[in-house]
Amino acid sequence: MPGLLRNPTQPAAAATRTLFLLPGRFIRQGAHLRANLAKMPALSNTAAGTAVSKEPDRLFAQPLAQVPDFAFNEDVVRVFPDMIKRSVPGYPTIVENLGVLAAQFAQPDSVLYDLGSSLGAVTQALRRHVRTEGCRVIAVDNSAAMVERCREYLNGQDSMFQELLPVEVIEGDILALEFKPASVVALNFTLQFIAPEQRLALLGRIRQSLLPGGALILSEKLRFADAQEHQLLGDLHIAFKRANGYSELEIAQKRSAIENVMKPDSLEEHTERLLAAGFSKVVPWFQCLNFASLIALP
Ligand SMILES: C[S@@+](CC[C@H](N)C(=O)[O-])C[C@H]1O[C@@H](n2cnc3c(N)ncnc32)[C@H](O)[C@@H]1O
Repeated sequence: MPGLLRNPTQPAAAATRTLFLLPGRFIRQGAHLRANLAKMPALSNTAAGTAVSKEPDRLFAQPLAQVPDFAFNEDVVRVFPDMIKRSVPGYPTIVENLGVLAAQFAQPDSVLYDLGSSLGAVTQALRRHVRTEGCRVIAVDNSAAMVERCREYLNGQDSMFQELLPVEVIEGDILALEFKPASVVALNFTLQFIAPEQRLALLGRIRQSLLPGGALILSEKLRFADAQEHQLLGDLHIAFKRANGYSELEIAQKRSAIENVMKPDSLEEHTERLLAAGFSKVVPWFQCLNFASLIALP
Protein backbone atom coordinates (compact mmCIF):
# COMPACT_ATOMS: atom_id res chain seq x y z
CA MET A 1 0.00 0.00 0.00
CA PRO A 2 2.37 2.73 -1.20
CA GLY A 3 1.92 6.15 0.34
CA LEU A 4 0.03 4.97 3.39
CA LEU A 5 3.00 5.13 5.71
CA ARG A 6 5.77 7.64 5.34
CA ASN A 7 8.23 4.96 6.50
CA PRO A 8 6.43 1.68 6.00
CA THR A 9 7.94 -1.13 8.07
CA GLN A 10 5.99 -3.85 6.36
CA PRO A 11 3.58 -4.02 3.42
CA ALA A 12 -0.05 -3.75 4.33
CA ALA A 13 -1.86 -7.01 4.85
CA ALA A 14 -4.59 -8.22 2.59
CA ALA A 15 -8.09 -7.43 3.76
CA THR A 16 -8.97 -9.66 6.66
CA ARG A 17 -12.14 -11.57 8.27
CA THR A 18 -14.51 -12.21 13.22
CA LEU A 19 -16.21 -14.82 14.64
CA PHE A 20 -19.06 -13.82 16.55
CA LEU A 21 -22.49 -14.50 17.54
CA LEU A 22 -24.77 -11.57 17.03
CA PRO A 23 -28.35 -12.70 16.66
CA GLY A 24 -29.44 -12.84 13.06
CA ARG A 25 -25.95 -12.34 11.68
CA PHE A 26 -24.43 -15.67 12.58
CA ILE A 27 -23.44 -17.71 9.59
CA ARG A 28 -23.54 -21.49 9.86
CA GLN A 29 -20.04 -22.80 10.61
CA GLY A 30 -18.66 -24.82 7.71
CA ALA A 31 -15.86 -27.36 7.59
CA HIS A 32 -13.35 -24.76 6.37
CA LEU A 33 -14.17 -22.52 9.30
CA ARG A 34 -13.86 -25.36 11.81
CA ALA A 35 -10.44 -26.08 10.34
CA ASN A 36 -9.43 -22.43 10.68
CA LEU A 37 -10.69 -22.29 14.25
CA ALA A 38 -8.71 -25.40 15.15
CA LYS A 39 -5.54 -23.49 14.24
CA MET A 40 -6.43 -20.52 16.44
CA PRO A 41 -5.57 -20.12 20.15
CA ALA A 42 -8.14 -21.17 22.78
CA LEU A 43 -11.08 -18.87 22.29
CA SER A 44 -14.04 -17.76 24.33
CA ASN A 45 -17.11 -15.72 23.43
CA THR A 46 -17.68 -12.46 25.27
CA ALA A 47 -20.97 -10.67 25.80
CA ALA A 48 -20.10 -8.45 22.86
CA GLY A 49 -19.95 -11.52 20.67
CA THR A 50 -16.22 -11.52 20.06
CA ALA A 51 -14.09 -14.65 20.29
CA VAL A 52 -10.67 -14.01 21.79
CA SER A 53 -7.90 -15.86 23.56
CA LYS A 54 -9.01 -16.85 27.09
CA GLU A 55 -5.54 -17.35 28.52
CA PRO A 56 -5.48 -15.76 32.00
CA ASP A 57 -3.03 -12.95 32.70
CA ARG A 58 -0.41 -14.30 35.13
CA LEU A 59 2.51 -12.33 33.67
CA PHE A 60 3.40 -10.66 36.96
CA ALA A 61 2.27 -13.40 39.35
CA GLN A 62 5.78 -14.61 40.26
CA PRO A 63 8.39 -12.37 41.91
CA LEU A 64 10.75 -10.94 39.27
CA ALA A 65 14.35 -10.11 40.19
CA GLN A 66 14.08 -7.08 37.93
CA VAL A 67 10.81 -5.92 36.42
CA PRO A 68 11.38 -5.06 32.72
CA ASP A 69 9.56 -2.18 31.04
CA PHE A 70 6.16 -3.22 29.74
CA ALA A 71 6.08 -4.08 26.01
CA PHE A 72 3.30 -5.26 23.71
CA ASN A 73 5.15 -8.47 22.92
CA GLU A 74 4.08 -12.06 22.30
CA ASP A 75 3.65 -12.78 26.05
CA VAL A 76 1.31 -9.82 26.43
CA VAL A 77 -0.57 -10.68 23.25
CA ARG A 78 -1.44 -14.15 24.61
CA VAL A 79 -3.13 -12.74 27.72
CA PHE A 80 -4.17 -9.30 26.46
CA PRO A 81 -7.97 -9.77 26.37
CA ASP A 82 -7.95 -10.97 30.00
CA MET A 83 -5.42 -8.32 31.05
CA ILE A 84 -7.26 -5.34 29.62
CA LYS A 85 -10.70 -6.41 30.90
CA ARG A 86 -9.37 -7.00 34.44
CA SER A 87 -7.26 -3.82 34.44
CA VAL A 88 -9.31 -1.15 32.69
CA PRO A 89 -12.60 -0.30 34.37
CA GLY A 90 -15.34 0.06 31.77
CA TYR A 91 -13.30 -1.35 28.90
CA PRO A 92 -16.05 -3.60 27.40
CA THR A 93 -18.58 -0.74 27.64
CA ILE A 94 -16.21 1.70 25.98
CA VAL A 95 -15.34 -0.64 23.13
CA GLU A 96 -18.89 -1.65 22.26
CA ASN A 97 -20.20 1.92 22.51
CA LEU A 98 -17.31 3.20 20.45
CA GLY A 99 -18.96 1.30 17.61
CA VAL A 100 -22.34 2.84 18.44
CA LEU A 101 -20.86 6.36 18.55
CA ALA A 102 -18.87 5.81 15.38
CA ALA A 103 -22.05 4.95 13.50
CA GLN A 104 -23.30 8.48 14.27
CA PHE A 105 -20.18 10.16 12.87
CA ALA A 106 -19.28 7.89 9.95
CA GLN A 107 -19.49 9.69 6.60
CA PRO A 108 -19.98 7.94 3.25
CA ASP A 109 -16.84 6.86 1.37
CA SER A 110 -14.47 7.64 4.22
CA VAL A 111 -11.94 5.86 6.39
CA LEU A 112 -12.47 4.83 10.03
CA TYR A 113 -9.13 4.57 11.83
CA ASP A 114 -8.37 2.33 14.80
CA LEU A 115 -4.99 3.63 15.97
CA GLY A 116 -3.08 1.34 18.31
CA SER A 117 -5.51 -1.39 17.40
CA SER A 118 -3.93 -4.22 19.45
CA LEU A 119 -6.11 -7.28 18.83
CA GLY A 120 -8.72 -5.29 16.91
CA ALA A 121 -11.48 -5.06 19.54
CA VAL A 122 -12.39 -1.55 18.39
CA THR A 123 -12.11 -2.50 14.74
CA GLN A 124 -14.54 -5.35 15.33
CA ALA A 125 -16.97 -2.99 17.13
CA LEU A 126 -16.75 -0.52 14.24
CA ARG A 127 -17.56 -3.34 11.83
CA ARG A 128 -20.48 -4.52 13.98
CA HIS A 129 -22.11 -1.09 14.13
CA VAL A 130 -21.19 1.09 11.15
CA ARG A 131 -23.32 0.58 8.05
CA THR A 132 -22.49 3.81 6.21
CA GLU A 133 -21.89 3.26 2.52
CA GLY A 134 -18.33 3.20 1.25
CA CYS A 135 -16.65 3.19 4.68
CA ARG A 136 -13.61 1.07 5.37
CA VAL A 137 -11.56 0.48 8.51
CA ILE A 138 -7.80 0.92 8.77
CA ALA A 139 -6.30 -0.56 11.92
CA VAL A 140 -2.71 0.34 12.77
CA ASP A 141 -0.35 -1.02 15.42
CA ASN A 142 3.42 -1.13 15.66
CA SER A 143 3.55 -4.44 17.56
CA ALA A 144 4.15 -7.27 15.09
CA ALA A 145 2.76 -9.80 17.59
CA MET A 146 -0.46 -7.80 18.04
CA VAL A 147 -0.91 -7.32 14.31
CA GLU A 148 -0.47 -10.99 13.53
CA ARG A 149 -3.10 -12.10 16.09
CA CYS A 150 -5.42 -9.20 15.12
CA ARG A 151 -5.43 -10.42 11.52
CA GLU A 152 -6.37 -13.93 12.69
CA TYR A 153 -9.28 -12.61 14.74
CA LEU A 154 -10.52 -10.45 11.88
CA ASN A 155 -10.30 -13.42 9.55
CA GLY A 156 -12.59 -15.18 11.98
CA GLN A 157 -15.02 -12.22 11.90
CA ASP A 158 -15.14 -12.28 8.12
CA SER A 159 -15.70 -16.03 8.17
CA MET A 160 -18.79 -15.63 10.31
CA PHE A 161 -20.46 -12.47 9.05
CA GLN A 162 -21.43 -11.06 5.72
CA GLU A 163 -21.43 -7.46 4.57
CA LEU A 164 -18.87 -6.19 7.06
CA LEU A 165 -16.88 -3.07 6.28
CA PRO A 166 -13.61 -3.89 4.53
CA VAL A 167 -10.63 -3.73 6.84
CA GLU A 168 -6.90 -3.38 6.42
CA VAL A 169 -4.48 -4.04 9.29
CA ILE A 170 -1.18 -2.22 9.02
CA GLU A 171 1.91 -2.92 11.08
CA GLY A 172 3.38 0.54 11.48
CA ASP A 173 3.94 3.62 13.61
CA ILE A 174 0.90 5.88 13.87
CA LEU A 175 3.32 8.80 14.12
CA ALA A 176 4.44 8.03 10.54
CA LEU A 177 1.00 7.45 9.09
CA GLU A 178 -0.20 9.48 6.11
CA PHE A 179 -3.82 9.95 7.02
CA LYS A 180 -6.55 9.64 4.42
CA PRO A 181 -9.78 11.65 4.70
CA ALA A 182 -11.39 10.11 7.77
CA SER A 183 -14.73 10.43 9.51
CA VAL A 184 -13.91 8.46 12.67
CA VAL A 185 -10.56 8.11 14.41
CA ALA A 186 -10.35 5.92 17.51
CA LEU A 187 -7.42 6.27 19.89
CA ASN A 188 -8.51 3.75 22.51
CA PHE A 189 -5.90 3.80 25.29
CA THR A 190 -3.10 4.44 22.79
CA LEU A 191 -2.17 8.13 23.16
CA GLN A 192 -0.87 7.47 26.70
CA PHE A 193 1.86 5.29 25.14
CA ILE A 194 2.98 8.06 22.74
CA ALA A 195 5.82 10.28 23.98
CA PRO A 196 4.17 13.36 25.55
CA GLU A 197 6.07 15.78 23.29
CA GLN A 198 4.68 14.03 20.19
CA ARG A 199 1.03 14.00 21.20
CA LEU A 200 0.06 17.49 19.99
CA ALA A 201 1.52 16.98 16.52
CA LEU A 202 -0.24 13.61 16.16
CA LEU A 203 -3.59 15.10 17.21
CA GLY A 204 -3.04 18.00 14.80
CA ARG A 205 -2.55 15.58 11.92
CA ILE A 206 -5.64 13.62 12.94
CA ARG A 207 -7.63 16.86 13.08
CA GLN A 208 -6.46 17.78 9.57
CA SER A 209 -7.65 14.42 8.24
CA LEU A 210 -11.11 14.61 9.81
CA LEU A 211 -14.05 15.33 7.55
CA PRO A 212 -16.91 17.64 8.58
CA GLY A 213 -19.34 15.65 10.68
CA GLY A 214 -16.62 13.26 11.84
CA ALA A 215 -15.07 12.75 15.28
CA LEU A 216 -12.03 11.60 17.18
CA ILE A 217 -12.85 9.25 20.05
CA LEU A 218 -10.06 9.29 22.64
CA SER A 219 -9.96 6.95 25.64
CA GLU A 220 -7.25 7.27 28.26
CA LYS A 221 -6.26 6.57 31.83
CA LEU A 222 -6.40 9.89 33.68
CA ARG A 223 -4.29 11.55 36.29
CA PHE A 224 -5.76 14.32 38.42
CA ALA A 225 -4.32 17.69 39.38
CA ASP A 226 -6.04 17.51 42.75
CA ALA A 227 -3.87 15.24 44.93
CA GLN A 228 -6.78 13.90 46.99
CA GLU A 229 -8.83 13.03 43.90
CA HIS A 230 -5.76 11.41 42.28
CA GLN A 231 -5.12 9.28 45.38
CA LEU A 232 -8.75 8.27 45.84
CA LEU A 233 -9.35 7.20 42.24
CA GLY A 234 -5.93 5.48 42.14
CA ASP A 235 -6.80 3.51 45.30
CA LEU A 236 -10.21 2.61 43.88
CA HIS A 237 -8.54 1.40 40.68
CA ILE A 238 -6.31 -0.88 42.77
CA ALA A 239 -9.44 -2.16 44.55
CA PHE A 240 -10.94 -2.86 41.10
CA LYS A 241 -7.87 -4.91 40.14
CA ARG A 242 -7.91 -6.80 43.46
CA ALA A 243 -11.60 -7.57 42.96
CA ASN A 244 -10.67 -8.97 39.54
CA GLY A 245 -8.25 -11.45 41.12
CA TYR A 246 -4.89 -9.66 40.86
CA SER A 247 -2.60 -10.13 43.88
CA GLU A 248 -0.70 -7.31 45.59
CA LEU A 249 2.48 -8.63 43.93
CA GLU A 250 0.91 -8.62 40.46
CA ILE A 251 -0.42 -5.09 40.97
CA ALA A 252 2.93 -3.77 42.23
CA GLN A 253 5.06 -5.43 39.52
CA LYS A 254 2.69 -4.38 36.70
CA ARG A 255 2.76 -0.82 38.00
CA SER A 256 6.54 -0.82 38.05
CA ALA A 257 6.65 -2.30 34.51
CA ILE A 258 4.30 0.27 33.03
CA GLU A 259 5.22 3.51 34.79
CA ASN A 260 8.09 4.32 32.39
CA VAL A 261 6.11 3.63 29.23
CA MET A 262 2.60 4.93 29.96
CA LYS A 263 2.22 8.60 30.84
CA PRO A 264 -1.37 9.64 31.58
CA ASP A 265 -2.57 13.24 31.32
CA SER A 266 -5.37 15.01 33.15
CA LEU A 267 -8.75 15.72 31.58
CA GLU A 268 -7.82 19.41 31.49
CA GLU A 269 -4.54 18.66 29.67
CA HIS A 270 -6.37 16.52 27.12
CA THR A 271 -8.99 19.19 26.51
CA GLU A 272 -6.44 21.99 26.15
CA ARG A 273 -4.27 19.94 23.79
CA LEU A 274 -7.22 18.89 21.64
CA LEU A 275 -8.33 22.51 21.31
CA ALA A 276 -4.74 23.54 20.50
CA ALA A 277 -4.70 20.81 17.81
CA GLY A 278 -7.66 22.49 16.12
CA PHE A 279 -10.64 20.58 17.51
CA SER A 280 -13.62 22.83 18.17
CA LYS A 281 -15.32 20.93 20.99
CA VAL A 282 -14.36 18.22 23.50
CA VAL A 283 -17.13 16.21 25.14
CA PRO A 284 -16.42 13.53 27.77
CA TRP A 285 -18.93 10.72 27.25
CA PHE A 286 -17.67 8.07 29.69
CA GLN A 287 -15.70 7.88 32.92
CA CYS A 288 -15.20 4.94 35.27
CA LEU A 289 -12.78 5.67 38.13
CA ASN A 290 -9.58 7.04 36.54
CA PHE A 291 -10.40 5.93 32.96
CA ALA A 292 -12.32 8.13 30.56
CA SER A 293 -13.34 8.51 26.95
CA LEU A 294 -13.84 11.77 25.08
CA ILE A 295 -15.40 12.82 21.79
CA ALA A 296 -13.46 15.57 20.01
CA LEU A 297 -15.24 17.33 17.16
CA PRO A 298 -13.42 18.97 14.23
C1 LIG B 1 -3.43 -0.28 25.38
S1 LIG B 1 -3.16 -0.87 23.80
C2 LIG B 1 -4.61 -0.32 22.89
C3 LIG B 1 -5.82 -1.15 23.13
C4 LIG B 1 -6.74 -1.25 21.95
N1 LIG B 1 -6.94 0.03 21.27
C5 LIG B 1 -8.07 -1.82 22.39
O1 LIG B 1 -9.04 -1.05 22.50
O2 LIG B 1 -8.14 -3.02 22.65
C6 LIG B 1 -2.00 0.23 23.05
C7 LIG B 1 -1.59 -0.24 21.68
O3 LIG B 1 -0.95 0.84 21.01
C8 LIG B 1 0.12 0.30 20.27
N2 LIG B 1 1.05 1.41 20.01
C9 LIG B 1 1.78 2.12 20.92
N3 LIG B 1 2.50 3.07 20.30
C10 LIG B 1 2.23 2.96 18.98
C11 LIG B 1 2.67 3.65 17.81
N4 LIG B 1 3.54 4.67 17.90
N5 LIG B 1 2.19 3.27 16.62
C12 LIG B 1 1.32 2.24 16.51
N6 LIG B 1 0.86 1.55 17.58
C13 LIG B 1 1.31 1.91 18.80
C14 LIG B 1 0.68 -0.83 21.12
O4 LIG B 1 1.43 -1.75 20.36
C15 LIG B 1 -0.59 -1.42 21.70
O5 LIG B 1 -1.07 -2.48 20.93
